[in-house]
Amino acid sequence: MRRIDLIEPFRVMQLLERAKELEAAGRKIIHMEIGEPDFPTPASVIEAARQQLATGDNFYTPSTGNPDLQLALSNWYKQEYGVDVAAERILITPGTSGAFSLIYAVLLEAGESVLLSDPGYPCQRNFIRLAGGEAINVPVGPETRYHLSTALLEENWRQGTRAAVIINPSNPTGTLIKDNVMSAMAETCRNHGGYLISDEIYHGLTYGAKARCALEFNNQAIVVNGFSKRWAMTGWRIGWIIVPEALIDACRRVMQNIFIAAPTLSQYAALAALTADGAVETMRLAYDERRRYLLSALPELGFDVVVEPQGAFYIYANVSRITRDSRQFCWRLLEDAGVALTPGEDFGAFKADEYVRFSYATGLDDIREGMQRIRNFL
Ligand SMILES: Cc1ncc(COP(=O)(O)O)c(C=O)c1O
Repeated sequence: MRRIDLIEPFRVMQLLERAKELEAAGRKIIHMEIGEPDFPTPASVIEAARQQLATGDNFYTPSTGNPDLQLALSNWYKQEYGVDVAAERILITPGTSGAFSLIYAVLLEAGESVLLSDPGYPCQRNFIRLAGGEAINVPVGPETRYHLSTALLEENWRQGTRAAVIINPSNPTGTLIKDNVMSAMAETCRNHGGYLISDEIYHGLTYGAKARCALEFNNQAIVVNGFSKRWAMTGWRIGWIIVPEALIDACRRVMQNIFIAAPTLSQYAALAALTADGAVETMRLAYDERRRYLLSALPELGFDVVVEPQGAFYIYANVSRITRDSRQFCWRLLEDAGVALTPGEDFGAFKADEYVRFSYATGLDDIREGMQRIRNFL
């Protein structure tokens, strides 16, 4: 099979297209399928971008990023997590998606593999396949809070495995990894001569417990993060990756060739985002209110949430009490009730037909109406 034939579509896009068609025909659709903040980018960020645009300096930055942004992020790591990260280890990328395409290009030879959780963020396995690697999807469930664990790493690590990826808090489950588990997994990766890659894009959007950075446990971990979620900046396409010193040169060479540099305007906007804490907190509180509402409303409707999500803006609910086929359920719910959810199949194969993902990146009024519609539909 050719490499491109292994790349799967993002299935929820089909559901989204149908939702748009129904909207065009005049129906109001409640969107709980989309993983994108419903808030505007903070005003201070937009203002900083406006000012930068007016300077006329919107040319390439160095490939690894505007040094001011690298330095600001280095200071931010000290303040946010108490870790020292040299600015040159922080590489600025076009979204975290850019960071992932970069790191797999650097790490993988044909046939080498990366361990991932199933369910997990669906694009990951396709980045790995595009780099010629093999994605090993490891089934996870509530017993490990839907995360990899040291036992699962030991069981699935093979010759040629180069890394394990964690998403903390997780998409689709919103669950956090326990500190001792993360620390032990970092150790396991190191023992196997591989890397722990930590996707921290939902950091800052946690409710109750703070998410810990993998670098707090192992300074050789590879950390990926970005501005899309916490700062409501999806369309700015800006993120970063922190790599061990030994990988900087290889990363720089790849970046020079495949991106030249991340978007300059967005890099200036990102600088301003790092001090927009007030706006982030307002969004976080709103997400938490929606999360708490859903956690109380869903069980009565027959959706089981086994492990309480403490982060991101997702709830991964088991629908076994309602249906045996979550995909069909989502399509019927959209057609008959005008509520869009993401079926489990988008996040992997393991027990996918038993789960749906609710996104609460949608206003509380709509979420309440969504619950009412689901009640009537059932
Ligand atoms: C876990 C996870 N990682 C990465 C991304 C990609 O984000 P970006 O906009 O930074 O490319 C997403 C987007 O939904 C995500 O959920």
